[in-house]
Amino acid sequence: MKIINAALVGLGNVNRNFLKILEMKSERLRSQYALAFRVVCAADSSGVAIAPNGFEPATLRRFKEQGGRVCDLDEFVAGQSIQQALSSLACDLVLEGSPVNLAHGEPGLSVTRTALERGISVVLANKGPLVLAFGELHEIAARTGAGLAFSATVCGALPVVNIGRRDLVAADVTLLRGIFNSTSNFILDEMVTGRSYAEALAEAQARGIAEADPSLDVEGWDTANKLVIIANSFLGVDITLADVSVQGITQISSTQLQAELARGQTIKLLATATTTPAGYAFAVAPVVLEKGEFLANCSGWEMGIEIHSDLYGQMYYKLWEREPLPTAAAMLRDAVNLFQT
Ligand SMILES: NC(=O)c1ccc[n+]([C@@H]2O[C@H](COP(=O)([O-])OP(=O)(O)OC[C@H]3O[C@@H](n4cnc5c(N)ncnc54)[C@H](OP(=O)(O)O)[C@@H]3O)[C@@H](O)[C@H]2O)c1
Repeated sequence: MKIINAALVGLGNVNRNFLKILEMKSERLRSQYALAFRVVCAADSSGVAIAPNGFEPATLRRFKEQGGRVCDLDEFVAGQSIQQALSSLACDLVLEGSPVNLAHGEPGLSVTRTALERGISVVLANKGPLVLAFGELHEIAARTGAGLAFSATVCGALPVVNIGRRDLVAADVTLLRGIFNSTSNFILDEMVTGRSYAEALAEAQARGIAEADPSLDVEGWDTANKLVIIANSFLGVDITLADVSVQGITQISSTQLQAELARGQTIKLLATATTTPAGYAFAVAPVVLEKGEFLANCSGWEMGIEIHSDLYGQMYYKLWEREPLPTAAAMLRDAVNLFQT
């Protein structure tokens, strides 16, 4: 049995669901994978708590669900940031689930750097560190031998990154397009039925699907973040957000959506990577699709992707994910893949 000492950075919707999975699946992880996850460190916006013998997952989850703050735990370490804690903590794995910050990437970026520099593996749900420093973080991981996995950052449980890296061997992708943000997809679908934008967004927030800053969802930045991660991880290009033309859904009205519906069409917020003589062009924008198209039929809480390539034909994948549990499961998948021998 291999014991994995883990630090949970952020105890929001995603990492609380990770704790829930530990409650549900610990026995299975031991018997099938010979792995035992021990949560030795937990951080939220109030600070860091350390328990060398491990927190009980259900107790920690319920504490946070009931509005508790890490600074009120007995194990709270006063005056220490998570970055400082990670610079000396005996730990094998960081599960990074703090909010996306596109200006400076913090706290996720320095947490990821600090852990990787010490040879501690990192599993990210937070896209920010990759969007701002994809190459640098991979260089550190390669130098120190730490694992770096992030399948949860693109479309939650849909294994887009895994498919791209593992299953498209030697392919040239000629077209990639997808619906990568279920909050905006849900809002558009609800607005067709006459529900207000604000009501639909409030439901996405209540379900724990929307970003902490929902402008990232509706203004297209979350979709663009995922496109940047895809491009860097399996399209063979080194791009940043500055290389993506980004437009969100905030200018779209119910009237416009209903008019498209009457014409047998629908509007979706699409990410696209198209090939041009100068290389790929990357865009995020609302696009009118015919009702019969694959992505037109990714509705509500679904996300989807189509990947056309020279070797593997045209692939179509979609996912229905209405709560963050599948995203947390994607982090578990990454962690097991890193530590299974
Ligand atoms: N929700 C989803 O379906 C989903 C899907 C894929 C990826 N993601 C990504 O996963 C990450 C987490 O999402 P979420 O829905 O769990 O977010 P969330 O519910 O907003 O939780 C964020 C957590 O981070 C904590 N935090 C904030 N600042 C911190 C700091 N300086 N140091 C340590 N912790 C800090 C918050 O503390 P408090 O508890 O004190 O507020 C909270 O516990 C985000 O980057 C998101 O983009 C989410």
